[in-house]
Amino acid sequence: MEVSELKIPTHVSIIMDGNGRWAKKRGMPRTFGHKKGAEVVMDICQDADDLGIRYLTIYAFSTENWSRPSAEVRTLMLLFGKYLKICYNKAMENNMRVRIIGDKSALSPQLQESIRVLERDTEKFDGFHLQIAINYGSRDEMLRAMRAMMEDYKEGKFAADELDEARFSSYLDTADIPDPDLMIRTSGEQRLSNYLMWQHAYSEFYFTDTAWPDFNKEELVKALEAYTRRDRRYGKITEE
Ligand code: FPP
Repeated sequence: MEVSELKIPTHVSIIMDGNGRWAKKRGMPRTFGHKKGAEVVMDICQDADDLGIRYLTIYAFSTENWSRPSAEVRTLMLLFGKYLKICYNKAMENNMRVRIIGDKSALSPQLQESIRVLERDTEKFDGFHLQIAINYGSRDEMLRAMRAMMEDYKEGKFAADELDEARFSSYLDTADIPDPDLMIRTSGEQRLSNYLMWQHAYSEFYFTDTAWPDFNKEELVKALEAYTRRDRRYGKITEE
């Protein structure tokens, strides 16, 4: 399929799985896989932008990931710190807005400060939108939303029958961000893993055996081809 024939989703979400296994296969520590994975993130952002995708949301660290060995958690946090700095420069050059979704309160004060500055300084940019999920879990996000919503309800800001999908969505970390059209998970697992459960209600899912450190533009295009074919199939059924 030619790139020009591809149907381009507005929003792609990714579960970047398989860093650990990729590294182990090469006789390297798991953290080596995460470092390679972080480099891939930078390339994929550029590729997504070049292909015309407007929003990209990546799952960098889940609320469950704290139970990993402490050295691995430390390496990941260091990587996020470094990445946010690189991201800041990229965002400035490319008119890219960056938002972090997840419970930021559990992150180190330095990381929280980098996030605050990055989000503040890119707030007006709209060339490309990158969302990074750090300490993110969908159930946690929905509970935090419910708590905030209940506070507003108690203060009489809205009545019970005014609670609809749009109002609920507005309390989520992804408020103002369109729902993902396509969710990609690498490395063979076929689970949602507490990722954007509300937002993925109507998304197409694409699974590949390729590990995240090996993911590249060609793999992204393959996912877009599958997405385009599904859309055509759906189109045929409705025509008949
Ligand atoms: C899953 O692989 C990956 C993670 C839990 C971390 C994702 C992080 C990165 C790709 C690197 C840093 C990201 C940014 C935004 C800088 P896994 O370790 O679960 O792999 P496995 O299933 O093979 O063990």
